[in-house]
Amino acid sequence: MSSLTTAAGIPVADNQNSLSAGPRGPLLMQDFHLIEKLAHFNRERIPERVVHAKGAGAYGVFRVTRDVTPFTKAAFLSAVGKETEVFLRFSTVGGEKGSADADRDPRGFAVKFYTEEGNYDLVGNNTPVFFVRDPLKFPDFIHTQKRNPATNLKDPTAVWDFFSLSPETMHQLTILFSDRGTPRGYRHMDGFSSHTFSWINAAGERVWVKYHFKTRQGIENFTAGQAARVAGIDPDHATRDLFAAIGDGDFPAWTVSVQIMPELEAERYAINPFDLTKVWPHADYPLIEIGELVLNRNPENYFAEVEQSAFSPANVVPGISFSPDKMLQGRLFAYADAHRYRLGANHGHLPVNRPHATEARTYQRDGAMRFDGNGGGRPNYEPNSFGGPAQDPGKAEPPLRVSGDADRYDHRAGNDDYAQAGALFRLIGAEAQDRLMDNIAGSLGKAPAFIQQRQLRHFLAADPAYGAGVAKRLGVEVEAGVAAG
Ligand code: HEM
Repeated sequence: MSSLTTAAGIPVADNQNSLSAGPRGPLLMQDFHLIEKLAHFNRERIPERVVHAKGAGAYGVFRVTRDVTPFTKAAFLSAVGKETEVFLRFSTVGGEKGSADADRDPRGFAVKFYTEEGNYDLVGNNTPVFFVRDPLKFPDFIHTQKRNPATNLKDPTAVWDFFSLSPETMHQLTILFSDRGTPRGYRHMDGFSSHTFSWINAAGERVWVKYHFKTRQGIENFTAGQAARVAGIDPDHATRDLFAAIGDGDFPAWTVSVQIMPELEAERYAINPFDLTKVWPHADYPLIEIGELVLNRNPENYFAEVEQSAFSPANVVPGISFSPDKMLQGRLFAYADAHRYRLGANHGHLPVNRPHATEARTYQRDGAMRFDGNGGGRPNYEPNSFGGPAQDPGKAEPPLRVSGDADRYDHRAGNDDYAQAGALFRLIGAEAQDRLMDNIAGSLGKAPAFIQQRQLRHFLAADPAYGAGVAKRLGVEVEAGVAAG
């Protein structure tokens, strides 16, 4: 048996009894072991993620199943059969770190590919679209999903006030209140990049891509009643289910596909392909299967590997890049900024976050909690004459043509916020429509009447049966002047 020590490695003779003056006496200041133990305990918490605070993660492998070299020069996608280690963190969005896995919410689906050209983070959700299309609205939207500033309670009035004043939320809120808003667990849902990204091939040609991860376990969802029961009985059911399945060798897997749009088609396509509230219909851009992802290893330490994991949409590798999607552009700033606040300037050195298939070679030095050797005696400036790492022009992206006057453009002007929401409503069938409208009425019914009327207008515009069905469940007449559209 090895000796217990202090953090400095000094053996501890007694870990049961504090050092006191006499058996009943006050404690002595010199009991450093006690002081270190209490002081460290006080510092065990770090800020939880401001969104996606509750989650579970696992390691696995991504395998290429199709030659995609005509579209991207990304090294990890360069050959059929090629394997790359991944870490995937699933999450809910609005709840705190101790909230219930079964709550109605989108689910995060964040994948870190440890490639030989650095870590590629695909920080997606289980939904192909999002509530808003301008990052300026993200903090406002999230405030409505969190707690009321006065009561500290979840606030249906704020939720529906914002939704009803923001018609671009219609598509995603239709998904949220459908069965897919309460997945049976993380293994039984799909994942999406949601955003459009770019792929660039060896010839410097660019295409636009959207990623889809289709669960091989089958989509399974709770009804609202089941979700409420499970949230009460086992608030950690999805975390437990994932850990147990992997522990039992029942490895969950996803088929990975992409939709591909030629670069210049983006200018002509009827839908703005960079609008995060819209999907690309599969009839126009079919799914092309490119790989499979299997999770096969649980973390050994939740805090070190899951809580301290950090994903950023800005982490792309050569052959993969961004798109003009305004939301994506906002996220390119937000994540690394959140990591510096939540974990510190050197979060990239933590074992779960550092590259696994290559090494980071930067001129960044020092900062709190630097524990990787800090560059040793090597030069800490560039250019230098001593063999330090240098830029690689071969990794440059081809130029992207952009144009336009700098201005604040109304992101709602000329946008159809209803067609895709209505199409989804019609697609899901009568029974799922009933559950969707029941779920909506259960929540919207807690908001004031004038907000209900304003929201009904959006449901009517998406589909008359959608508006009428929600109005009926609310037991209200649609007021005169509340016309569709
Ligand atoms: C402008 C829009 C958005 C902003 C500003 C934003 C911001 C953030 C922030 C600050 C975090 C916490 C990061 C951390 O502390 O590690 C986060 C987490 C996350 N976000 Fe977003 N977000 C936005 C939109 C989205 C969208 C559209 C998606 C999905 C397509 C998404 C998926 C996620 C996921 C999956 C996580 C959790 C990552 C993890 O597991 O660590 N977010 N977001």
